[in-house]
Amino acid sequence: MSRNGPTETIAIATGGGDAPGLNAVIKAVTLGARRRGWRVLGLKDAFNGILNPDDYPDGGSIELDENTVRYIGHQGGTIIGTTNRGNPTAYPVQADDGSWSTVDRTDELIDRLQALGVDALISVGGDGSLEIAHHIHQRSLETGRGLRVIGVPKTIDNDLDQTTSTFGFDTAVSFATEAIDRLFSTAASHGRVMVVEVMGRYAGWIALHCGVATGAHGILIPEIPYRLERVADMIRQRRAAGRDYAIVVVAEGAAPVDGEITVASRSLGRAERLGGVGEKVANELERLTEMESRSVVLGHLLRGGTPTSTDRLLGLRFGGAAIRALEQGYDGVMVALAPPTVRYVSLIEATRALKTVPVFGDTVLTARDLGVCFGD
Ligand code: F6P
Repeated sequence: MSRNGPTETIAIATGGGDAPGLNAVIKAVTLGARRRGWRVLGLKDAFNGILNPDDYPDGGSIELDENTVRYIGHQGGTIIGTTNRGNPTAYPVQADDGSWSTVDRTDELIDRLQALGVDALISVGGDGSLEIAHHIHQRSLETGRGLRVIGVPKTIDNDLDQTTSTFGFDTAVSFATEAIDRLFSTAASHGRVMVVEVMGRYAGWIALHCGVATGAHGILIPEIPYRLERVADMIRQRRAAGRDYAIVVVAEGAAPVDGEITVASRSLGRAERLGGVGEKVANELERLTEMESRSVVLGHLLRGGTPTSTDRLLGLRFGGAAIRALEQGYDGVMVALAPPTVRYVSLIEATRALKTVPVFGDTVLTARDLGVCFGD
């Protein structure tokens, strides 16, 4: 896990879906590195810039310094770009006949970084990006190339197992909470069922937290396969008691008992795109309850905008901890939040499991005591 060696030039990459707080990480990494006299390169669009420099006017990477990172800590997105296409370990290539396959470009990536003088890589990302970081680290060790790798966890979904939380989650939940608060009055005024679809591919943290915080009547999450008949029963009971509206929050990765998740599209070299479960649920609830039902997809709105103070601080702390990790000689580790402090866990451990909602955890139990229907 630890290998000493002087650091002179570091590269930082942000990969996967963006999350509010990424720019705070970039700022803390850059300022921390510059204070130690290190050079910092920002890689464009994760590794796409470095692998395809001719496609970028700046050659796929930019120099980061005190000026470049001024006033970015409070901004959403990432100033160096991101992508969830172009995994270097399984890079999509199209043959002359139009067919697609993948090649491992990890060695080429390490060569290109080292040609730029980079001796340490900070890779900021979710489960997919951290697996890529782990692979790069392994290849570097196997081939004795000496490129050190530090991971920084990022995902609005909050589904990384080895860190108590990730930046972006608080901003997403806060925004969803505000949006759902607004839907209550229109649902009540029209006597409708409003189904709100939120992100959450493998884990229902966002749906659970905003659903409980707003007092939603139904919450459907990937961890609890649902039967819509149960949700319809809850809605009928509400109507019988004179409350002729309902709010149902559904995570995009939720699926019915004996059913499949709702996939919007599939393409080579990237995770399948989810989406559409909210509309399905609304249509089915309308059929079952004969109440007018509408769906709203919050989708990428959850990823945009200004990070909350919690997410800014977490991003800054993770960036600072990544720099201290390099200074202390760590290699192949991910920074993790372990309140009241941060710790380092090996990349292999960090990528071993996802953190899903514990179905007997206190938040789910509290929700049940509040009368929330999980469709089970
Ligand atoms: O960050 C993860 C996530 O928010 C998932 O919940 C969602 O499935 C995915 O990103 C969507 O990403 P995109 O639409 O950018 O491919």
